[in-house]
Amino acid sequence: MPEIGQKIELKIDSLSIGGDGVGRFEGQVIFVPESAPQDLLEVEITESHKNFNRARIHKIISPSPFRRDPPCMYAKDCGGCSWQHITEDEQLRQKEQLIVTTLKKFLKVDQIPFQEMIPSPHPFRYRNRIQPHYQNTQIGFYKKRSHDLVPIDDCLITEEPVTKLWSEIQKKLSTVKRKVGQIEASIDENLKGSWRFIEKADESVGFSQVNRFLNTQLVEKVVQISKTKPITGKIIDLYAGSGNFTFPLSDANKKNQVVGVELSPTLALKFREKTLQRNLSPKFIEVYNSDVEKFLQRFEINPADFVLLDPPRIGTTPLVMRSLAQSGAAHIVYVSCHPTTLARDLEIFMTESKKSGHHYKIEQVLGFDLFPQTDHVETLVELRIDSF
Ligand SMILES: C[S@@+](CC[C@H](N)C(=O)[O-])C[C@H]1O[C@@H](n2cnc3c(N)ncnc32)[C@H](O)[C@@H]1O
Repeated sequence: MPEIGQKIELKIDSLSIGGDGVGRFEGQVIFVPESAPQDLLEVEITESHKNFNRARIHKIISPSPFRRDPPCMYAKDCGGCSWQHITEDEQLRQKEQLIVTTLKKFLKVDQIPFQEMIPSPHPFRYRNRIQPHYQNTQIGFYKKRSHDLVPIDDCLITEEPVTKLWSEIQKKLSTVKRKVGQIEASIDENLKGSWRFIEKADESVGFSQVNRFLNTQLVEKVVQISKTKPITGKIIDLYAGSGNFTFPLSDANKKNQVVGVELSPTLALKFREKTLQRNLSPKFIEVYNSDVEKFLQRFEINPADFVLLDPPRIGTTPLVMRSLAQSGAAHIVYVSCHPTTLARDLEIFMTESKKSGHHYKIEQVLGFDLFPQTDHVETLVELRIDSF
């Protein structure tokens, strides 16, 4: 086992969830932040554990062909983007590999029907919402693995009208009592900027897809999948937010009743406001302001239903996966922003569905690069029951 402080030569094989490069030394896994696939490095061990080690780059002996100078001048220090030093093509390849290897490992299968990684139309300037920190009048993000602020004037992955708000925000910061905190700055559909202070345990922090450019394609894909075969039951959108998928699904499947389930009262209210604006009757589209698990304890999903679930990064619960597996719903789409929790949930689903006599097949898996320059990735999995 390598010891802390030991210097070793290491080849980086791939990138991991969390962003670090991964190499092997005497059979031991070594994670190296800020490395790139195919780097040959001299690294110094900084952490040594039973199952893994961490190291920092001491010297780049031979750089990866996929390395580049980060386009953002703050990237070296700022903890916001973990992959700015890697070319975009390689980022996409690594994300595909992460999705496929994680699913294979959890599902214990040799093949995953991975279709493609859909790139973001804009690899930079794609974020419409950020949550930077402030200290006095300086705004920025924390340094990697620390609470030291890296002040920034602009953020290259963020749409320009957001960081144009800086001077207005700084004026206000110079007048407030609290000298340290966090803010949320965003733009709406009309590119109008706004910002606010984030309070601890902020109830009203609403969810919205941060990359509107690629979100459109993600929503279109889900709608297209829903049209594979006429749905004879309901459309159920679990973790619906304010209806990002629910309204397009309803528009495309006008005869079906559509049900959204969302925990946040703020988002459920936004959802309801949209139904009123569009003059839609609850007979066709309705939102339940509820925890998904509790909802499924009183609502029966039928084999004829189309189910979409898009949980937060922590994934869903075993009970939710079990209820879906037992329901025998013919067509299910799982949209996930974390490959590990997705794979864990699917493993439960596959085991439970077999136990209850339902046989599902993963029809296709797609990756959407909603978060270029970072190690985060969105995955879509389409599941169909054998009798589909
Ligand atoms: C990844 S977001 C997806 C939202 C929506 N599908 C969209 O595309 O905008 C996950 C959503 O699940 C909601 N949520 C989190 N935990 C939940 C729970 N236990 N039950 C219901 N909704 C939950 C969050 O408030 C958030 O809106």
